[in-house]
Amino acid sequence: MKEIFRNELKKLSPYKPGKPIQDVQKEYGLNKVYKLASNENPLGCSPKVKKALIKCMDNIHLYPDGNATLLKKKISDLTEIPVNRILPSSGLDEMIDLVAKTFINKGDEVIISDNTFIRYMDTTKIMGGVPVVIPLRKDFSFDLEKMLEKINNKTKLIWICNPNNPTGTMISRKELINFVKQVPKDIVIAYDEAYKEFATDKNFPHNSIELLSNHPNIIIMRTLSKAYGLASFRIGYAIASEEIIENLNKVRPAFNVSTFAQAAAIAALDDQAFIQKTIQNNNKGKEYLYKEFDKMNLFYIPTQSNHIWVNIKKNSEEIFKNLQKKGIIIRPMKGTNIRVSIGLPQENEFLVQCLKEELNLCV
Ligand SMILES: Cc1ncc(COP(=O)(O)O)c(C=O)c1O
Repeated sequence: MKEIFRNELKKLSPYKPGKPIQDVQKEYGLNKVYKLASNENPLGCSPKVKKALIKCMDNIHLYPDGNATLLKKKISDLTEIPVNRILPSSGLDEMIDLVAKTFINKGDEVIISDNTFIRYMDTTKIMGGVPVVIPLRKDFSFDLEKMLEKINNKTKLIWICNPNNPTGTMISRKELINFVKQVPKDIVIAYDEAYKEFATDKNFPHNSIELLSNHPNIIIMRTLSKAYGLASFRIGYAIASEEIIENLNKVRPAFNVSTFAQAAAIAALDDQAFIQKTIQNNNKGKEYLYKEFDKMNLFYIPTQSNHIWVNIKKNSEEIFKNLQKKGIIIRPMKGTNIRVSIGLPQENEFLVQCLKEELNLCV
């Protein structure tokens, strides 16, 4: 019988999301479960979002605005980038998919760091691209020099995540500028800023848009799932040259962003006070967790994001299961490492208490 599935799918597995809170509650008979596994916003989202959604209720039967006119206008007002250089997507996940479909031909080499967001690798492989994987530096940051060394005439695209998920490390403005200057203009740099709002280091490139004027090969990709707390709506966007946006638009499904997601995003972008509160909570939680991990003598990577990579010196899958039974969901990583999202004070405290129990550190 002939093979019906594409060859590229043979070595791929479906993305494994963490278990939803309700499933864990039911499985272990728990009243309260905290989820510190997917880097969501523990404060929820701006209250302005709910008001905006009520206004959309009358239009449930109508297709969304396929051009996302008002949302693009809002992003344009905030970024001072013209609307024809902005493209909203159904989550940044979809944008990663659109980028892969737009640029990667079978056999093209695609440079990806080890230990970064998994969807870069999966979408590259789906398109028949050849991933060229660069290990992280000793300090867990992206090895940009090694990435540059791997560029050849087959290279098509480079995925960059800043701050990086899952390590929380960053590329500074100076390093980034130096890097993009050395990447030939016919190689696309897909630059993922999913966690940019959380970066506190003064050298973080908060104004990455400045790079676009000299480097039209960069695609800046953002999401409203993290700091803006809109993960359930699936809303992200890209900023790039007019030509890139036009081509991304060719592969985009016609009505990819729902009416509700568009309205939620406009309201959320309008509430910068909520973002400030989110950042404050993150910074406080980060300091608390650092202090507690230090006391527990655990190695962690200082983070520029809303998640921390910690080595808990025990099998991470085992700890993950045991913590889940206690009512806390974290993300197990390779070996003895876990990734924890920074939560509300009570969530962080519960995490610390459970970790102490698991590691026999209770006094
Ligand atoms: C680095 C990175 N990029 C993209 C995404 C996808 O985000 P979205 O929820 O907008 O699809 C995530 C989600 O965790 C992420 O960590």
